[in-house]
Amino acid sequence: MQRTQEMTSVQPDWETFHALPESEKIPFFSRDGRMYDCLFAQQLNRNLLEHLFKVADRLRDVTQQKAGADHVSSLLSDKRAMLYFAQPSTRTFMSFLNACHIMGLKTSEIRDTSTSSEVKGETPEDTVRTFSSYVDMIIMRHPAPGFVEKTAWLMNRTGRPVPVLNGGSGKDQHPTQALLDVYTLYRSFNGDLDNKRIVMVGDLKRGRTVRSLSYLMRNYKNPSLVYVSPKEFRMEADILEFLRRNNIKHEETEDFRGALSGADAVYMTRIQDEHDKNGESKGVDYSPFYFKKEHLGLIKKSCVIMHPLPRRHEIEVAVDDDPRAMYWRQERNGMWARAALISYVFGVDERI
Ligand code: NCD
Repeated sequence: MQRTQEMTSVQPDWETFHALPESEKIPFFSRDGRMYDCLFAQQLNRNLLEHLFKVADRLRDVTQQKAGADHVSSLLSDKRAMLYFAQPSTRTFMSFLNACHIMGLKTSEIRDTSTSSEVKGETPEDTVRTFSSYVDMIIMRHPAPGFVEKTAWLMNRTGRPVPVLNGGSGKDQHPTQALLDVYTLYRSFNGDLDNKRIVMVGDLKRGRTVRSLSYLMRNYKNPSLVYVSPKEFRMEADILEFLRRNNIKHEETEDFRGALSGADAVYMTRIQDEHDKNGESKGVDYSPFYFKKEHLGLIKKSCVIMHPLPRRHEIEVAVDDDPRAMYWRQERNGMWARAALISYVFGVDERI
């Protein structure tokens, strides 16, 4: 792949670069007009989303037969991916791992940074540069906001860049979760994602999934977003400002029951207490924001109930049997959507 002119001309230091608006950063993370690193949800426009959803649907279809699965897994059998997950993860890790295997990539993993030379004093930047010598793609989850983007920025300045996919960074972004969330909506509503009312519930202040999903809804006509949270965990001002700038209807409320009736999707999230610095979550009563069996009678027949998982008590287990409970399918959709993304980044998507 050729480095484009626009990429090499943008060379400020990291802090200056990081502070640029996303729209100005996108060319630096693209090659030949295609997304190369997937770091933030603003990179995913409507055309790309529709394309990835079609590729994901096709992958599901062709891999049902052994011949199709063998063909797909031959497409990237010359490539290796490294999963660097410096934060707890089960589903995103497994989802990416299996997405790699569907596409035939060989994988290696680091899940515990205490076994890396970082403990000998190596900087995280040198560590990731070392990893990149061995592989053709880095899939990364990291507790520090912006670190995954910084890794991609560093990589793109080296002589041997490899694409970087963000599997969740700090409190800021989780673009591939948003990709699979919208893919789930796409499958639930037969591709019609316009005029949808999405109710997001829970710890919106520290949940990265709801942030990335909010960005993605800009791609659709006339969305309306309802943010339901305890007052301590309201959506951050930068997202509200983004919605205002893009004329996206939104409201904030603590009235969970009241928000349910008009919803096309109810997106539940757990309290993100791993981000507590001084026990902020301790005194908060989260129970008014739980989806219980009794709430099923309040939502539309066509409404879908979603959750990025893992759940604690936000959704009563009895809700799982309702056909509108979409979270288990949502997880599986993630594997296909990520496989589609990987095929796109390596440019083999048209061969599926
Ligand atoms: C989410 C995350 O890590 O942000 N999980 C996931 O990737 N499916 C949500 C969460 O942990 O609450």
